[in-house]
Amino acid sequence: MAAPLDPALLPDTAALEEDDVRVGGVSLRALAEEFGTPVFVYDEATLRARARAARAAFDEGVAYASKAFLCGAMARLAVDEGLDLDVATGGELDLALRAGVPASRLVLHGNNKSPAELERAIAVGVRRVVVDGFDEIARLADLVPPRGVDVLLRVTPGVEAHTHEFVRTGQEDSKFGVSISTGDAARAWRALTDIPGVRLRGLHCHIGSQIFEFDGYRAALEVVGSFLAGRDLDELCVGGGLGVAYVSDERAPAIAEWGAAIRAGAHAAGIAAATRLTAEPGRAIVAQAGLTLYRAGTRKVTSARTYLAVDGGMSDNPRPVLYGSGYEAFDVARPREERPQALRLVGKHCESGDVIVDEAWLPDATGVGDLVATPVTGAYGYAMASTYNRVPRPPVVFVADGRARPVVRRETFDDLARLEVEP
Ligand SMILES: Cc1ncc(COP(=O)(O)O)c(C=O)c1O
Repeated sequence: MAAPLDPALLPDTAALEEDDVRVGGVSLRALAEEFGTPVFVYDEATLRARARAARAAFDEGVAYASKAFLCGAMARLAVDEGLDLDVATGGELDLALRAGVPASRLVLHGNNKSPAELERAIAVGVRRVVVDGFDEIARLADLVPPRGVDVLLRVTPGVEAHTHEFVRTGQEDSKFGVSISTGDAARAWRALTDIPGVRLRGLHCHIGSQIFEFDGYRAALEVVGSFLAGRDLDELCVGGGLGVAYVSDERAPAIAEWGAAIRAGAHAAGIAAATRLTAEPGRAIVAQAGLTLYRAGTRKVTSARTYLAVDGGMSDNPRPVLYGSGYEAFDVARPREERPQALRLVGKHCESGDVIVDEAWLPDATGVGDLVATPVTGAYGYAMASTYNRVPRPPVVFVADGRARPVVRRETFDDLARLEVEP
């Protein structure tokens, strides 16, 4: 028998009532009525608190990794809270610019930036281009404008972060960055400093995502520290990667602890105190601020288990399918009840693998017609959403101070049909 939902998994402002849950002072039941389901709900207070914590934990130049969740409202909120924005593609760059983010607050990433992406980023004047490899250096050489361009060099320190293989990036065998141990980083350094107008401001080193222990960061800082000996740099960005708790028995370090560990690790590795230590967290800013509301539509009992199917699924949350990620679920109208019923919470897609929560513990009474929510879906949910089976993507609603504000509307069949080329 599972206990009632652990409120620590909910946004900071969540209040559990007898037959409802309020977030940002807004009833989730009322939100589902007004916007329909599925719907992504974000608590602005939690987003702002995490953004401020990140800003406080590092030096000037901390960026929000927009790949975790990007829309105009989120881009503006991050910048409003003093964070820059890490964009990893021309599409993310375009959205940030359309949202009114000044180019001077943008950092461009990507392991295969096209000439067009680089050209636009440089033309608008992004704060940093994070150079990922030799082909990019060659492309960059042709694009440097008279005013020059500031870059970071992304290095791989040869460190294995304790996390899922698909989100590990610091090891030697990675598509990202240039290896320190093979001498590629030193060669890339020389190549960059040989290009007139390229100002190499620092190094970038992102070892992976959903990381709970700091040993990997410490080991990476040691390697980077040795590489930096005798080289003078303005900035060292440790990337993102701080883990978050998705289920009741997980505990994740706070952003402040992460910052303190990075500072201590940099000091221990002999990295000059004058080097600005920056980071670009994504998940740690947005994951817990968000949740998804679904309506349960069918229930099926087999000899093995009971399935409860909701009106979304792998199209709005592909993480369980991609990484085997675990989530919790709760019944919005029965948030304080014990959850003795184990159900497989599935979506509406034509895939047996379309599972949202493999073993969702819910109250006995939960069934068809009920509003079921999954907490901690703020990161890599909407951002990775697809239209598989032509299921339109859900809307995104921000809540704060008792008010709900739609920031992305629900996709429609017309939106989907718009891409068709008529014969
Ligand atoms: C270069 C880089 N920076 C930052 C991040 C953000 O990571 P997280 O959301 O785990 O903080 C990622 C994630 O893939 C990344 O590749």
